[in-house]
Amino acid sequence: EKIIWTAILPSTNDFLKENWRTLSHGTAVVAEMQTNGRGRYNRNWLSPQGGLWFSILFKPRKSLRPAFFTKVCSLSVIKALQALKVEARIKWPNDIYINGKKLAGILTESVFDENIPKAIITGIGINVNNNIPQELSNKAISLYQITGQIYDPKIILKMILRQIDGMIRRYSKKPEIATRLWKKYMIQKEGQVISFIKSNIIQSGKLLKILEESLLIEIDGKKIEISSLEILDV
Ligand code: BTN
Repeated sequence: EKIIWTAILPSTNDFLKENWRTLSHGTAVVAEMQTNGRGRYNRNWLSPQGGLWFSILFKPRKSLRPAFFTKVCSLSVIKALQALKVEARIKWPNDIYINGKKLAGILTESVFDENIPKAIITGIGINVNNNIPQELSNKAISLYQITGQIYDPKIILKMILRQIDGMIRRYSKKPEIATRLWKKYMIQKEGQVISFIKSNIIQSGKLLKILEESLLIEIDGKKIEISSLEILDV
C-alpha cells in the first residue's frame, strides 16, 4: 500500500486522474488542504486544514463496478469510525451522516482510455478537526464537534485503508455481501415512508426498494424511481 502525502493540491481526485498511468493499484493520495475540492454534481467541497481529504486509485483486474468501490469505501469509513466509538450511518447513496448532519462524502470517478475502463478513483472527504463554517452548520458536522477530541488524520486514514483492503479481499467475489452491509448501515430502510423533491414539490412515499442508482418509491399506488438529487436531507 502506497500513500502520497501532500500539503496542498487542487483536488486529490484530479491528481489521480492526471497520474493514474504511472501509479499502482491501491495508491492513496492525501492533501492536507484542497483548493478545488469537488463534490458530486459538480458541487464545491470545502477542504480546509484539519480535515482528511484523500483519493484511492483502483485498477481492478476483474470488471468490478465503480459502485462496488464506492460501497466498500463508505462501509470502511463507517467501520473506522466505529473503532473510534462513533456510530455513523450511510445516507443513500453514500453520504456518511451522524445526528442528521453530513460528516463525510464520497466521489467515485471512472477513467477511460479509448472507451475502455482503465481505473476507478474514489475520493473521500471527512470533516475531522476542521472548522465547519456557520452557513453549513445545520448540514455538516466534524468529528471534533461530535466527540470534542482532536484526531490524527494519518491514523484515521490508515484505519480506513486497512478496512478497504480487507473488504475488497472479502467481497470482490461476492459483491452482494457489500450491498447487504451497505443497506444495513443505511438511514433509509425499505418499507419506510421517505420525503423527496419531485417537480419542485416536496412529496412523500413508501420506499419499496433501495437500488444502486435510484430508489423505487410507491406514491398514490404508483411506482416511481427517484435519483439522489431529489431526495430530501434527513
Ligand atoms: C460529495 O459528498 O459530494 C462527495 C465529496 C467528496 C470529497 C472528496 S475530498 C477528497 C477528494 N477530492 C475531491 O476533490 N473530492 C473528494
